[in-house]
Amino acid sequence: MAVEIKKEDGILWVKFNRPEALNAINEDFIAGLKKAVEIAREDKEIRVMVLVGEGRAFCAGADIKMFSRIDAFRAREIIEDLGKVLENLEDLEVPVIAAVNGLALGGGCEIAMACDIIIASERASFGQPEINLGIIPGAGGTQRLARIVGWKKAMELCLTGERIDAKTAERLGLVNKVVEHDKLIEEVKAFAEKLKKKSPTALMLVKQAVNRGFKKGLGEGIEYERDLFTISFASRDAEEGIKSFIEKKEPKFGSRV
Ligand code: COA
Repeated sequence: MAVEIKKEDGILWVKFNRPEALNAINEDFIAGLKKAVEIAREDKEIRVMVLVGEGRAFCAGADIKMFSRIDAFRAREIIEDLGKVLENLEDLEVPVIAAVNGLALGGGCEIAMACDIIIASERASFGQPEINLGIIPGAGGTQRLARIVGWKKAMELCLTGERIDAKTAERLGLVNKVVEHDKLIEEVKAFAEKLKKKSPTALMLVKQAVNRGFKKGLGEGIEYERDLFTISFASRDAEEGIKSFIEKKEPKFGSRV
């Protein structure tokens, strides 16, 4: 199986498992990731999803050997499948953390960018090397990268295909946190546990607000945020959170609805 899925204490662990090909993306991989996204959407016990790679790569991008066997029409279908899975992943109610253990290149970088949080091992590196194959990123690379690191830096990375290390990625705002390699899973777990204590409804609304604002203009984003704020204010979790603060107690938020 190209993707292993395991549920543990409300966390859905999704492991890319083709280490012999540096976890390159083939059709099985896309089907596995799609299934994981469906589980995270349907199973209300899941509170956080984590993506990680087996071996020395997070994911080295699309399977170039597969690319050598197909034409542009089939390539478009495959990249469209991946793109849709990434949109669904981005739209999940629950936060998604990319635990980037090593190389995150091409589609691997695109997958990480569709996650809400990127926690990277000090051994991680990022890049969009498609230019070196005479092609360009196809699963949101040129778009998400430019929005995350800025227009000119994204242009440079996509034009040169050069890799950047984890610290540089952190400096550019592509990575939230760089951690010691051996502590990656521990740190990701601690981050996930922190998120699990929050109101699932409020987490979902924050994601919607931030993502909508990111994709649309500022004015529309601010208006949307105001609508979602009103929805959150009317929720039971808001009642519990505000009351608990005043009574100096830990809030007991509800489950996903
Ligand atoms: N697709 C298919 N196979 C891949 C792959 C990919 N994207 N990336 C790595 N592999 C395979 C290699 O072919 C090799 O397989 P082999 O042992 O059967 O020859 C194996 O994974 C290990 O990779 P290798 O190139 O030997 O490791 P390296 O440490 O020398 O180099 C990279 C690592 C990442 C620099 C190099 O593998 C690379 O450039 N990969 C392609 C990255 C890319 O262009 N991604 C975008 C694709 S659109």
